[in-house]
Amino acid sequence: MENKKVIFSGMQPSGSLTLGNYLGALKNWVKLQSEYDCYYCVVDMHAITVPKEPKDLRKNTLEVLANYIAAGLDPKQVTLFIQSHVSAHAELGWVLNCLTYFGELGRMTQFKDKTKRLESSSIPAGLFTYPVLMAADILLYQADLVPVGEDQRQHLEITRDIAQRFNNRYSETFKVPEAFISKDGAKIMSLQDPSSKMSKSDSHENAFIILMDDLDTIRRKLKRAVTDSEGVVRFNDDQPGVKNLINIYSKITDKTTDEIVASYEGKGYAQFKDDLAEVIIGEVRPIQERIDYLLKNKDYLQEIYSYGAEKAEAAARKTLRKVYKKVGFIPK
Ligand code: TYM
Repeated sequence: MENKKVIFSGMQPSGSLTLGNYLGALKNWVKLQSEYDCYYCVVDMHAITVPKEPKDLRKNTLEVLANYIAAGLDPKQVTLFIQSHVSAHAELGWVLNCLTYFGELGRMTQFKDKTKRLESSSIPAGLFTYPVLMAADILLYQADLVPVGEDQRQHLEITRDIAQRFNNRYSETFKVPEAFISKDGAKIMSLQDPSSKMSKSDSHENAFIILMDDLDTIRRKLKRAVTDSEGVVRFNDDQPGVKNLINIYSKITDKTTDEIVASYEGKGYAQFKDDLAEVIIGEVRPIQERIDYLLKNKDYLQEIYSYGAEKAEAAARKTLRKVYKKVGFIPK
């Protein structure tokens, strides 16, 4: 146990998880759970960087936890917890805020995308300093690796910069973590616009599939997925819609993209999309059944997140104590 490398990752409870969250991150988390000492968090504090109804936040937080377990994470093997239960995240976040520069936060592409259409008077400061809290999440656990999708790469870079800066200023304290991003499927694209990533905040509901979509909805969304006029199932950049669908197929079945293309030679998109819908359904149906079961057993979920918070708290406090000492705070 002691010699295992540490993994930390998290997801925002900003709605139900999408197929992008699942194939880009969660499915990999499950694969890594026995080999590493894993901390998987529901980052509810990140979710309030944009306005959120309290009752929705509560519901989504439990749903995400249920999604984690239903997708195959074993609460006995990994530490599953809710970010706001471990106050060290906010505490380290503050210290790191004082080491992070306005300019570098302003360069975050996700911040720029999210605030494109907003006046500065309506941009919450928390949205700006979001990556610093994310750095605190990761650095508290001395994580070696952070399994995420491609869209989080820049946040991992700034986490590394902040860790190195602290280490240089105050002496070696933090492990400098690495992003762990799978080669294919690290970016699942929108089914309606294959140039943008699949996201649950997309205004077009056919653009994304959520793990909790009912089976007919999945079939319908696949039928409407944007392709092109070529009519041939091929894996290339000129056919981004089809390429994305092949990627999804490949991530779920573990077949190579070449194998998939070969098996659709001479067949059109309709057949391919119908088959892919069934492939997705085959993957998500058992997960949905487990989610339903878990959400009816809230006591069980509570047991898991309480136990997880205790374990996470112990690890996080250890790091925070060191940090407080190094910056010069007097112990109580
Ligand atoms: P979030 O909640 O947006 O997404 C959770 C995870 O899903 C991945 N992901 C995708 N992967 C492939 N294709 C997509 N279309 C897609 N959409 C989302 C994300 O890359 C991510 O791995 N800032 C993080 C949450 C966070 C975090 C952390 C992550 C907070 N603290 C510490 C790692 C470590 C976020 O908003 O992820």
